[in-house]
Amino acid sequence: MESNLKDESSAVAVPPATAVTPPAPKAVVKPAGRPPAVVVESAPEPKVFKTRRMIIWASVAAFLGYCFLSFIRFFLPRSITEPASTFKVGFPSDYALGVDTKYQQQYRIWVDKTSDRVFVIYARCTHLGCTPDWKASENKFKCPCHGSGYDSEGINFEGPAPRPMDRAHVELNAEGQIVVDVSRLFQKPKGEVGHFDDPGAYIPL
Ligand code: FES
Repeated sequence: MESNLKDESSAVAVPPATAVTPPAPKAVVKPAGRPPAVVVESAPEPKVFKTRRMIIWASVAAFLGYCFLSFIRFFLPRSITEPASTFKVGFPSDYALGVDTKYQQQYRIWVDKTSDRVFVIYARCTHLGCTPDWKASENKFKCPCHGSGYDSEGINFEGPAPRPMDRAHVELNAEGQIVVDVSRLFQKPKGEVGHFDDPGAYIPL
């Protein structure tokens, strides 16, 4: 009995177990600031865009180059190239009777051969200076501007042209070729003395 009392007195009073409540988790407050950067991977540029950009840059460079050259040229002396007024058109025997138009584009002339002479008509209408057309089927020249007509020797017969077409100076060189000089023209004004029979206005055959 006594030992039981000792045991009871020596026993440590143990408080009843209480439930331990874990501390509530602290709320995490994120600092206010910029949102995280979003990395967006861009797609590679299509080749057509690169080509187009190169073309644009090339065009810009060409334009600037043109402007620069024009600017430089402005300060350079200018020379005007005019076609020669004297030239050869071959031998009289190269031509058949009638009108030959092969030098019209190059020299603005027609070589005209008749039974007794070769002469050269300067292809300029005496009205306002247009270049008439040779109408072989009608055997005449016709001016497209206002309708003047000339016969196969360049003599006006219709329309507003005031006189025949002029003739260029011709002579034979040492080789026998016809040399034409369109800076020396022979005229036949209406009502005045004509010069179509002057020396140099034709080559006799
Ligand atoms: S320019 Fe030839 S008819 Fe007027």
